[in-house]
Amino acid sequence: MNALSPTVLHLDLDDVVADVDPRMFGGLMEHMGRCVYGGIYDPESPHADAHGCRADVLDVLRRLDMTAIRYPGGNFVSGYDWRDGIGPRADRPRRLEKAWKSIEPNAFGTDEFLALCERMRWMPMIAVNLGTAGPRDAHELIAYTNAPAGAPGGARRAANGREAPYGVPLWCLGNEMDGLWQIGHCSAEEYARRARETAAAMREVSPGIEVVGCGPSDPRMPNHPRWTTTLLDGFGDGLDYLSVHRYARNFSRRTAEFLGFGVGVDRQIEELTRLVTRAQARHGHATRTRLSFDEWNVWYKTVPQVAWRFFLPRRFATVAPPLIEEVYNLEDALVCAGFLNSFIRHADVVRIANLAQIVNVIAPLLTRRDGLLVQSIFHAFRMFSARRTGDALRVAPQGPSYRTRRFGVVPVVDLSAIRAPDALHVFAVNRSPDRPAPLDISLSGATLHSVRDAEILTGPSAGARNTWEQPDVVTATGFMAVSTTGQSAALLLPPLSLVAVSFRLEAPAAAGNG
Ligand code: AHR
Repeated sequence: MNALSPTVLHLDLDDVVADVDPRMFGGLMEHMGRCVYGGIYDPESPHADAHGCRADVLDVLRRLDMTAIRYPGGNFVSGYDWRDGIGPRADRPRRLEKAWKSIEPNAFGTDEFLALCERMRWMPMIAVNLGTAGPRDAHELIAYTNAPAGAPGGARRAANGREAPYGVPLWCLGNEMDGLWQIGHCSAEEYARRARETAAAMREVSPGIEVVGCGPSDPRMPNHPRWTTTLLDGFGDGLDYLSVHRYARNFSRRTAEFLGFGVGVDRQIEELTRLVTRAQARHGHATRTRLSFDEWNVWYKTVPQVAWRFFLPRRFATVAPPLIEEVYNLEDALVCAGFLNSFIRHADVVRIANLAQIVNVIAPLLTRRDGLLVQSIFHAFRMFSARRTGDALRVAPQGPSYRTRRFGVVPVVDLSAIRAPDALHVFAVNRSPDRPAPLDISLSGATLHSVRDAEILTGPSAGARNTWEQPDVVTATGFMAVSTTGQSAALLLPPLSLVAVSFRLEAPAAAGNG
């Protein structure tokens, strides 16, 4: 196997894009399929903890060190009445929810979610219903979560057993309201009005919250970019984030094309940034609207499974049917790494990102009654998340590339880098299916002391995946093919691999005083 010509990367440790916002490593927990019921919450499980949550699932999720968790949807939120999910369980109604045509038992609701966030140290990111509800409903919800116990909403919360306000800081104004499939879908003008009025009503209760408005649910939406500019024009000042969604598909099963997906993510971010900057400059907005990539993942193998549910007669609806339980392989994990590399390279605009979703439903973990399976994408996410603290560095590598139909020219080696106070983290994907890729890194602004730790994720083929019988086919292991001399490092990236390396930086010499 002949190695490719080297990719050369010069890093200037003072050339910083921005700090990496920890919320870039969030997730989506939707009332969909077996994400909540049978995934997170399952009081009948032998693994259930005192709260009815699966302790084994939570233990493994802790290894991902996720930050902002978006809840309760997704499409689900656009038909959801949060009041159904509070108060004594015995009084909560069972309902047919219309987004996924499932029965919602309401055994898990806002209080259970917020208590779970506190136990898991997750930042709650709650989406409000702007499909069948509106500003008044959102006002009541935020009063329930954030008002003091003496105030109207807070008193209701206190009566349900929670005296102190939860102080939820981050709110999504609806979900994918540009999509025809969305309950309560509306025009861009109407959505801008709903979002503006809802944010204003919520800020009457909690002036300090940050809000996320629905941007394009896919860059190929026919009404994009008009949707985005109409929202920014109509909302006025004070929109903290524009929500962006993207699912990577590989219907044609062409690995080389698929692995180029990160280039498409770069373009999506850069196009939206241009639109937002122009609109904000036109109006002279004081708040800089940045991006919340609040649904991202690979999702295509199970798409047809949900499409037919729109025609499902209600008598066939059940609680927690197994929906879109995508099985992930090595190439999917490398595409996920491509998303994260792109987010880090654009750390100044991408402040929040949520892997959709966290358990069972297009997720890094699959559960059965008697156990759980860690999927390939879990390892990719963890390798980044464990090294996320610091400043994203500008990267402009030179190296071999290849041509794709969808994304044009794609570099063989995909890269990002984060500078921590005492370490340098480099993330590299070799997209080549069959050739090792040498990576030569040179450095200015500090000296490399040594390799602190290095991991690799790879497997026997692009389609290799973990199974219940063989759970460790695609898993992270130690990476040895890296060497350093003070100002440089050399790596040899095997074909179809993600490598994450942390270098110790030499402590700067203490300044003498004469
Ligand atoms: O994550 C699955 C679904 O994908 C979400 O409910 C929706 O927002 C998106 O279309």
